[in-house]
Amino acid sequence: MKDKILKALSHVMDPDLKDNLVKLNMIDKLKIEGNTVSFTIILTTPACPLKKVFEEECNKYIHELVDPKLKVKVEFDSKVAHTQRQNMEKMAGVKNMIAIASGKGGVGKSTVAVNLALALAEFGAKVGLLDADMNGPSIPTMVGIEGIQPAVKVIEGKNMMMPIEKYGIKIMSIGALLPQDKPIVWRGPMLSNGLTQLILDTVWGELDYLIVDLPPGTGDIHITLCQQMLLSAALIVTTPQRVSLTDTLKTIEMFRIDKIKIPVAGIVENMSYFTPSELPDNKYYLFGKGAGESLATKYKVPLLAQLPLVMGVSDRSDEGTPIMKDDTNKIMQESFRKLAQNMAQQISIISVQKKEQLLKTI
Ligand SMILES: Nc1ncnc2c1ncn2[C@@H]1O[C@H](COP(=O)(O)OP(=O)(O)OP(=O)(O)O)[C@@H](O)[C@H]1O
Ligand SMILES: [Mg+2]
Repeated sequence: MKDKILKALSHVMDPDLKDNLVKLNMIDKLKIEGNTVSFTIILTTPACPLKKVFEEECNKYIHELVDPKLKVKVEFDSKVAHTQRQNMEKMAGVKNMIAIASGKGGVGKSTVAVNLALALAEFGAKVGLLDADMNGPSIPTMVGIEGIQPAVKVIEGKNMMMPIEKYGIKIMSIGALLPQDKPIVWRGPMLSNGLTQLILDTVWGELDYLIVDLPPGTGDIHITLCQQMLLSAALIVTTPQRVSLTDTLKTIEMFRIDKIKIPVAGIVENMSYFTPSELPDNKYYLFGKGAGESLATKYKVPLLAQLPLVMGVSDRSDEGTPIMKDDTNKIMQESFRKLAQNMAQQISIISVQKKEQLLKTI
């Protein structure tokens, strides 16, 4: 009977990983008790958008190929895949490190970084958030941890920093280490060293996703992160205006340079349209249309989300309540959940592709 069930389940394909659930070792704890078949599907991310599809397909094939009277009970668990990176040993517990980048400033990188991190955590992932914007760190304000100093612990004779925990995620920002009223006037090498130290001297522990909020453009910070090969992938945030395309193109090209080759997991178009809360079905395209889509087509990467422009986001965010923790903003919360699912799906795909590439080179 078990063999029959497994044979039926081998018809269920994972469209992203391009093989069936049995071959991918995703079926666990298969049990048959009386008239009930139960098993657990081990996903590559707790934010998997295909849960419902898998459940329906499993039911369908077991009923078609084994017995239409069987009761099928599907449970889900996840084991997040890690992306192969060089220098992996330096942050062995961090499975995937994803940078949020843009060409222009003020397009919503930090807003996306914070809420994407919170949405991933809501799905059950272990998440960290690193504010790498050394010249204008904004994460502490956005999550309400201004003025809180990270604790320091001596580990193997070395001073290490403990990330600050808020809303269920681990947060570290250069902003937490510096006095708030002094502007940071660091230059190139100091900036790069400061960032490297911030990343490597933090006790991140086990993380499925470490989200990194970058400053705009293609400066020293980007070069440091890219050269040290710590990143698994980058997410590009843009606004719908076509005039901002040139800057965004430069940023994408930077990740694609031969020596760097950080995969672009996708494009996020922010402030795509305005929706008044009293007329949720109306969309007004205030800033034009098409930048996100044309970038996605040009670079053959997915457009992961088109986020609406919502009134009040700035105010609540200045008070330390991010969108994912502000239940008056359901439209935006749902958009961020979808973005988290789409991104997690892309990271799983990238991790498989990297493994295949590595196997080819051995
Ligand atoms: N979808 C949105 N709807 C309404 N306001 C938004 C939205 N996204 C971002 N904002 C607001 O726009 C401003 C800029 O956003 P944010 O700080 O996230 O951008 P950024 O790209 O990180 O900027 P910087 O380049 O300065 O780091 C903030 O006041 C933020 O609250
Ligand atoms: Mg920012």
